[in-house]
Amino acid sequence: MPPKSLPGFRDFYPEQFAEREFIFKTWRRVVRRYAFVEYDAPPLETLELYTSKSGEEIVTQLYNFVDKGERAVAMRPEMTPSFARMVGAKAQSMRKPIRWFSIPQLFRYERMQKGRLREHFQLNVDLVGESEALADAELLSVALEIMREFGLSAEDICARVSDRRLLNAMLNHLAVPEAAWASVYAVLDKIERQPKDVSRERLSAAGVSESSVDAIMGFSGLAFSDVVAQYGDSQLVGEQVREFTAYLDSLAALGIGEFIRFDLTIVRGLAYYTGIVFELFDLHGEFRAICGGGRYDKLLSTLGGVDLPALGFGMGDVVLGELLRARELMPQDLNNVADVWLAQPDSDDSYPAITLKLATRLRSRGLAVEYPLRRQRVDKQFDAARKAGARNFVLIERDSTSPDAQYRFRLRDGSHSDLQFASVDALTEHLIMKQDNS
Ligand code: HAM
Repeated sequence: MPPKSLPGFRDFYPEQFAEREFIFKTWRRVVRRYAFVEYDAPPLETLELYTSKSGEEIVTQLYNFVDKGERAVAMRPEMTPSFARMVGAKAQSMRKPIRWFSIPQLFRYERMQKGRLREHFQLNVDLVGESEALADAELLSVALEIMREFGLSAEDICARVSDRRLLNAMLNHLAVPEAAWASVYAVLDKIERQPKDVSRERLSAAGVSESSVDAIMGFSGLAFSDVVAQYGDSQLVGEQVREFTAYLDSLAALGIGEFIRFDLTIVRGLAYYTGIVFELFDLHGEFRAICGGGRYDKLLSTLGGVDLPALGFGMGDVVLGELLRARELMPQDLNNVADVWLAQPDSDDSYPAITLKLATRLRSRGLAVEYPLRRQRVDKQFDAARKAGARNFVLIERDSTSPDAQYRFRLRDGSHSDLQFASVDALTEHLIMKQDNS
């Protein structure tokens, strides 16, 4: 049996690689418009980096082992801890706010399902040094602008947003003991997928009173205006309502208001989030989350030793790729095909010196050139060029009328009948001009 790749790990054949590049290029193009700069970190880190703060689920999914130097290490399951470590080490000397992005490959031993593999690439966009909600709005704007750049509109996707501080203030108002908050988050996170009685039982088991269980179970349908009406009298909630209103106003001014859905069930699985959190979903509900992130104001002091507010998001390539293909927004024929195919009559013995010279000349001018690597009949060469999607076909012929037996070049480009060129220069200039105009 020939060896297979591991389950959940992808081979990228040229078609898939081209799609991956299309996604990466689009990510980079948009993120740079927001003046973020790119960084990277090691794919292998100490195990400890993740066990302290990433949250239980990710820790159970780690690819970890003991290396030959007896160190407990793990393949990175997410980028945020490495980011926090790196920023912490140099934070004092860096201009704030820090705006960094990265496209790491991440590894999680997940239960495999649609949209979930054991490796994926994830765009990470993070911002450090701003505690104002304006920074949260800027961040969500990056994520949504990326969606638009791919051709996805508010008719395709939405951003579900919440705020852990607002949620905490509401729990406080309901007199839910702080020790139970983590359990409340876990229940809210699963509230749409888990039977109601299981959610209720879990809340009760965590020490939440009967009346508060009723209130929490109602969180899933609550609009922001409901929160204001029902909880706005509480001073703690009132403060958070003002913050969140400023956030919503900024989103509207940034032109992305139409994407936003307030949703208290978005708490995010990771343990480190402290404020506004969000996830992007397709509106048909066919796919898992495309993107998730939020504010994590305490992580830099835990992992980086500096007390700086921070926020960011991760957007994976797997769900996004599935969605783009499903909506026919993934371009076809992304692969780099030859601009020019050079062919010569199989009767010509001097093959291939002139072909090689011409190919070198055209390539030096930036054109992609292919020619057959063994002698072939002209009709076979033409066929091969067509199958390869070559844009121009050049037949190199010996010019028997010329006294020094020079060459002439016959160009077929599918659009008009053959054009003839008497010199390499004339042909080259014609092809370059054509390329520039296309
Ligand atoms: P996350 O929600 O775990 O957040 O992942 C973010 C996105 O990565 C998900 O919405 C999904 O698109 C993709 N993703 C996650 N796991 C997989 C998987 N097994 N297979 C395919 N795609 C996956 C984080 O990782 C945070 N560290 C993001 C962040 C950055 N927060 C602040 N800065």
